[in-house]
Amino acid sequence: MANTEARGQWQSRLGFILAAAGSAIGLGNIVFFGANAYKYGAGAFYLPYLIALFTIGIPVMIVELGLGSLTRRAFPPSLHRLAGRFGEFWGWFALVSAFLVTMYYITILSWTFGMLIGALGTLWQPEQALTAFPAVKSLPNPMGYFFDMISGWLPLAFVVIIWVANLVIILRGVSQIERINRIFLPLMWLFMLFLIVRGLTLPQGLEGLYLLFTPNFEAMKDIAIWKGAFSQIFFTLSLGFGVMTAYASYLPKDADQVGNPLIISFMNCCFEFLAGIAVFTMLFSFAIVPQASTLSMTFFVIPQGIAQMPGGMLVVQGFGVLFFVLLLLAGISSSVSLVEAPMSALIDKFGMSRRHLVPLIGGLGIMGSAAFALPFVVDPGLDSNGTLGLTLLDLIDHWAFSYGLLLGGLVECVIVGWFFGADKLRARINQHASLHLPALFDVFVKWVIPAVLIYILASSAWQEFGGIYGHNYVIKGFQPWLPVLCFLIWLAGGGLLSALLTFSREYPLQEEQL
Ligand code: TRP
Repeated sequence: MANTEARGQWQSRLGFILAAAGSAIGLGNIVFFGANAYKYGAGAFYLPYLIALFTIGIPVMIVELGLGSLTRRAFPPSLHRLAGRFGEFWGWFALVSAFLVTMYYITILSWTFGMLIGALGTLWQPEQALTAFPAVKSLPNPMGYFFDMISGWLPLAFVVIIWVANLVIILRGVSQIERINRIFLPLMWLFMLFLIVRGLTLPQGLEGLYLLFTPNFEAMKDIAIWKGAFSQIFFTLSLGFGVMTAYASYLPKDADQVGNPLIISFMNCCFEFLAGIAVFTMLFSFAIVPQASTLSMTFFVIPQGIAQMPGGMLVVQGFGVLFFVLLLLAGISSSVSLVEAPMSALIDKFGMSRRHLVPLIGGLGIMGSAAFALPFVVDPGLDSNGTLGLTLLDLIDHWAFSYGLLLGGLVECVIVGWFFGADKLRARINQHASLHLPALFDVFVKWVIPAVLIYILASSAWQEFGGIYGHNYVIKGFQPWLPVLCFLIWLAGGGLLSALLTFSREYPLQEEQL
C-alpha cells in the first residue's frame, strides 16, 4: 500500500523548495533562455517572457503543485481522482512525453560531461583532426571538439555514468533528492555569481546587458516570440509533465501552495535572468554572435567566448570547468525530477518498490539516451544535424517537447477547471495559504490558459500540413521514413502505452473523499 510511509515525505519545507527549484533551474535557465532571447531579437523577448510568467507560468505551477498536495499522488493517479480514466490516460501520456525528453536531456548532460573532460585541456587546443565532418575543420575549436566527440562511441559510456548518478539518487527516495539539492543549489548560485561578475567586468560587457533589456516593441508584434516565451516558461518552470505534482505529493496536506509556487518561480526566474546577463555580457564583449540553436549555444558559442577570456590558459580552463560543472549540477538536479515523475506514478499504480523499478526505468532510459548518442554520420556537410543521434534528438524534441509539454498543461487546466472545479481547488489551497488566491484564478484556469494553449498548439499543428517535421532534412540512408517514425513513436506509441497503463489495473488504494 502506497501510504505516506512507503512513499516518503520531504523533511522540511525548505528542502522541498530547494528540490523544486533544483528541478526548475536547469539547462533551460543557463543556456536556452539566452539562446531564445537572441533568436527573438534580445530586448523583444523578456517582456513576453514576464507576461507569460504571470499569466500562465505561476497559475499552472499553482495547479500542478496543488494537485499533488491535494491528492498526495503522482500525476496520472491524481488526475484519475479528479476525472477517472480519461484523466489518468492523459496523465500517462504526459509522462511518456516527459520520459522521451528525459532520455535526450540526459544525453545532452552526457555530452556536457564529455565537454567537461575536454575543458581540462584539449577543448581549447587549436588543431583538431576531424575526419567525419570536413566542414567543421576550419571552425572554432569547441565546435570541432564537440562534433569529434559525438561522432565517436565514448558518449555512450557517459550516458551510463549520468544515468547511474540519477538512479543512485532516486533509489533512496525523496530524502536523498532533498539532500543533494541542499548541496547543489547553493553551489549553482555561487558558480553563477562568478560568471556574472566576470561577464559584467569585461570590456564592453555592459553593452550586452543593454541589448538584452532594451525593449524592442516592433519585434514583439511577431506571434512567434510569444509562442517562444510561453514554451520557455513551461520548460524552465518544469511544468506540463507532472513533475511538480510528483514532488508536491510528498508534502503534507497543509502545505502553503501559494507561497511555495511563488518562491520557486521567483528563484527560477532570478537565476534565469542572471544567466542571461552572464551569457550576453560575455558574448558581446567578444563580439560573438550567439546562435539561435540551443545546443550550439551550450556546446560551442559559450565555450568560444570562454576561450577568449583574458588572463591566460589557466583562467580559460578554470572558467570552462566552472561552466560545465555548473551545467551538470543544474542539469542533474533537473533530470532527477524528470526520472522521479514516472517513478512515483508507477509506485502509486502498481505498489512496486523503488528497488524493483530502478532497473526497469534505468534500463529503458539508458537504451533511449544511447539512441540519442548514436554516432553514425548521416549528414557530413552539417546542413541539418550531423549524426543519427542528434537527428533523432531534434525530431523527438519537436513532438515530445513542443507539443507534449503544452498538451500536458492544457489537460491539467481543463481537468482541474472543468471536471473538478477551479473554485474548489482554490478553496482547498486557500485553507492553508499565507496569501489567498483571488477568484480571478478560476477565470485563468478555466478560460484564459486553455485558450492560449489551444491557440499555440493549433497554430503549430496547422504548420505541419506543409509536410511532417524533418521531411526536408538531410538524413542519408534514413529518408524519408525516420521523421514519420519519430512522430509515430510519440503519438501512437505514447497513446498505446498510456492506454495500456490506464486499463492494466484499478488503483490498489482505498481512496478517502477529496
Ligand atoms: N526545468 C528544467 C530546465 O530548465 C528542465 C526540466 C526538469 C523540465 N523537469 C522538467 C522541463 C519537467 C519540463 C518539465 O532545464
